[in-house]
Amino acid sequence: MKNIVILISGGGSNMAAIVRAAQQGGWRERLDARIAAVVSNRADAKGLVFAREQGIPTAVVDHKQFATREAFDEQLACTIDSFQPSLVVLAGFMRILTPGFVERYQGRMVNIHPSLLPAFPGLHTHQRALDAGCRFAGATVHQVTAELDFGPILAQAAVPVLPGDTADALAARVLTQEHLIYPRAIADLLPAL
Ligand code: GAR
Repeated sequence: MKNIVILISGGGSNMAAIVRAAQQGGWRERLDARIAAVVSNRADAKGLVFAREQGIPTAVVDHKQFATREAFDEQLACTIDSFQPSLVVLAGFMRILTPGFVERYQGRMVNIHPSLLPAFPGLHTHQRALDAGCRFAGATVHQVTAELDFGPILAQAAVPVLPGDTADALAARVLTQEHLIYPRAIADLLPAL
C-alpha cells in the first residue's frame, strides 16, 4: 500500500475527505493508500485535530520560524520524506513553494484549487468568478509544477453560479465537489506512481 502525506494550513476538509476515502468509502470513493502523515505550517490548523483523532501522525513546520522560503521548504521536505510518501497532497496548503521543492516532488505532488483552471489562479477565486459574471465556477485537481496553479489537470468539477450568490455561498458549493473529485483523482493517479 502506498503512502500519502497531506499538507494543510487550515480546516482540512479536503484532507478529511481523503482520509475517509482511504478508511472505507464506497466502491467509487475507495482509495487504496495509507495516510502516513498530515503536515501543517500552522500549529493551530483545525484539520490537525481531526487527523490526530483518526490516529494519523501529524507534524508542524511553522514557516514563521524560518528566515527564508528555501530554509522552510528544506525542513518541510525533510519532514515529508521521513514518512516516505509516494504522493504529496496539497489540501488547502497556503504557502508558495520554491522551485527546488517543486522539482523534488515533480510528478508526485498534487494540488486542489478552487477555480476552473486556467481561469483564476491565485487567491479570492470565488469573488473573481462572481465579478467576471461567470455562469459556472468549480475546482481543479492538478499536478504541481513551478508555475503557481498551473500544472497538468487531473480532474475538474463545475457548479452553477446561482442568482444572488455570495463568494461564501459559491465556495461552499464548490467545496462539496472538491471532496468528491480529490479522493478520486488521487485514486486514479496512485497506481502509476
Ligand atoms: C479549498 O477550497 C481549496 O481548494 C483551497 O483552500 C480550501 C481549503 O479548504 N485551496 C487553495 O485556495 C489553494 N490555493 P480545506 O482546508 O477545508 O480543505
